[in-house]
Amino acid sequence: MKISDTPKLVTIFGGSGFVGRYVVRALVNRGYRVRVAVRRPDLAGFLQPIGNVGQIQLVQANLRYRKSIDAAVKGSDIVINLVGILTESGRQKFDAVHVFGARAVAEAARAEKAKLIHMSAIGADLESTSEYCETKGNGEKGVRAVLKDAIIMRPSMVFGQEDDFFNRFGAMARFAPALPLIGGGATKIQPVYVGDVAEAIALGVDGKLQSGKTYELGGPQVQTFRECLELLLKEIGRKKMLVSLPWFIASMVGKALGWLPGAPITSDQVEMLKTDNVVSEAAVKQKRTLEGTGLQPTPMAVILPSYLVQYRPHGQFTKIADESE
Ligand SMILES: NC(=O)c1ccc[n+]([C@@H]2O[C@H](COP(=O)([O-])OP(=O)(O)OC[C@H]3O[C@@H](n4cnc5c(N)ncnc54)[C@H](OP(=O)(O)O)[C@@H]3O)[C@@H](O)[C@H]2O)c1
Repeated sequence: MKISDTPKLVTIFGGSGFVGRYVVRALVNRGYRVRVAVRRPDLAGFLQPIGNVGQIQLVQANLRYRKSIDAAVKGSDIVINLVGILTESGRQKFDAVHVFGARAVAEAARAEKAKLIHMSAIGADLESTSEYCETKGNGEKGVRAVLKDAIIMRPSMVFGQEDDFFNRFGAMARFAPALPLIGGGATKIQPVYVGDVAEAIALGVDGKLQSGKTYELGGPQVQTFRECLELLLKEIGRKKMLVSLPWFIASMVGKALGWLPGAPITSDQVEMLKTDNVVSEAAVKQKRTLEGTGLQPTPMAVILPSYLVQYRPHGQFTKIADESE
């Protein structure tokens, strides 16, 4: 039973992840009741202080187990699925999480007559040679088949304090003499701020976005992979060589090291980098973008200094303005 005078209940799968915690904050700030469905609720206690007492509920769910999804969705008005993996491990297979799991969440939302916001990624494509992108494409297809009114969000690379990209290469820059330009570094990326992605999702929850649409979320700048690394090095005040790594060598490195926990890159990520990761012209034309939601994308220069400071050489805790500024 849904009680109409209580705030709406939003269930978030993947609410404990990088993007998830910003989505939880955006929804809590709007007064929603938030149920975070995670595999290990005991490890997600850090979310509780974001909300008022009782506003955030942690429940156990695993996208690979249908019953746990149905139980987590019970009584929800809106469901958000943020679950995604970049690498496979054990039973955490791309198909199980991105395809089976995505469809199961959509079916559970439909059974509950709840709205669904599904997180995919720019690059999601049934024909992709990257398993991540191919299964994200298949996941979208399954979601649309079940709930044609679902809103699908496809961000480009997401940046922010807990991001994977700038933190990974920032950490590498501390000890490595050079940073790798995968495939030469010409791939275009449109990094988008995690706070903006969360706000766009919250607008969807508010009912301010068009149902049944796929939004492509990119930041204000399109940059090459090389330009992103140059920006990082400038930000952390370190001089490092940028060494071009041809695709086949990058692939071999990915195959050799990709199975390691915390591997620098996997062969599937190398495949992903072969395609530009930017908002499509069609999305721009049809206003299915961050700007189309009414939000102003945040530039990297505003956010990067706040968390990349940790990668500066010892003693340099503030950025020293260089002559070009
Ligand atoms: N970050 C980016 O640059 C980026 C770009 C484009 C698209 N995306 C998409 O955005 C979404 C969020 O990304 P993120 O960066 O926030 O990822 P993340 O930090 O790795 O978070 C993923 C979340 O999914 C949960 N999860 C993983 N396997 C699960 C399972 N079997 N059942 C239930 N929960 C499971 C994780 O929780 P536990 O593992 O703790 O259970 C975590 O809460 C993903 O769909 C991702 O593909 C991200």
